[in-house]
Amino acid sequence: MFTTASLQDEIRKLKKENDICILAHAYQSHDIWEVADYVGDSYGLSLQAAKASQKTVLMCGVRFMAETVKILSPEKKVLLSHPLAGCPMADQMDVALIRQLRERYPGYAVAAYINTTSELKTVCDVCVTSSSAVQVLRNLENKDILFIPDCNLGAWVAKQLPEKNIKLVSGGCPTHVRMSLRDVERARSMYPQAKLLVHPECLPEVTAQADYVGSTTGIIDYAKNSSEKEFIIGTENSIVQHLQFSCPEKRFYALSKDCVCHNMKLTTLADVYQCVRGVGGEEIVLSEEVMKKARRCIDTMLALGG
Ligand code: 13P
Ligand code: SF4
Repeated sequence: MFTTASLQDEIRKLKKENDICILAHAYQSHDIWEVADYVGDSYGLSLQAAKASQKTVLMCGVRFMAETVKILSPEKKVLLSHPLAGCPMADQMDVALIRQLRERYPGYAVAAYINTTSELKTVCDVCVTSSSAVQVLRNLENKDILFIPDCNLGAWVAKQLPEKNIKLVSGGCPTHVRMSLRDVERARSMYPQAKLLVHPECLPEVTAQADYVGSTTGIIDYAKNSSEKEFIIGTENSIVQHLQFSCPEKRFYALSKDCVCHNMKLTTLADVYQCVRGVGGEEIVLSEEVMKKARRCIDTMLALGG
């Protein structure tokens, strides 16, 4: 029988022996964070994907993240930690819809949130993540931009960039939209001293009330570096737990107990163990054409957001 610590030791041994780099998104559980070579937001994971020296990369997160790793490192074997872990937002739009939108809005650049399929990225101009969107779109030469598929992130970015004409196309994260203005009012009255830190995937009426809006890494860094002692966290609730480990002297409260991403929660430490043993996960396979075309979109983000 294994304990958490002994299973983690076994994973560390096997990943070294089998030349595997473990990347984990910030929403993964803390026992997975502890065995990962890198933990971060979608932008940080994209940068690491291009840098990893190992022959195999295990992406603990959701499918679009593993596809991004494969596109940036096509020569590597890339594994997704759980075959059913997908982001529902990534499937909200298809290539036919983007073609229709392009006909309706000629001359607009199409900016895709990275939470999209690689196939969709083949017909978009540039990718963005929550942490890079403002900088990338500010640096994009086009004034007219169609932002897909997250209207909440798009609306927040548009507010920061009044010089751009950003059109939103309906879509969004089913997890973050669960947090409402009522949750904000309740949390503020329960914890009047606490700072409210939220992800830009939240509804505009929630981000409008926040003391800080940013990516998962942005929220974590803000809370760690702040001299304040209490924080209400408006993003997936795993971040509350991670912050309690980083700053045990501070207090962290979930904005809503319902902000749980079931797809991010699918991967367990035992799945990671099976993957490093070579018997778990799903190898990501994409056609050369899709990788080549989707890469333009991601490379443009890395060039404009760096
Ligand atoms: P980050 O890039 O901020 O980590 O966001 C990814 C995501 O899926 C948030 O729901
Ligand atoms: Fe997708 Fe939302 Fe889950 Fe992030 S939290 S992976 S956007 S469903």
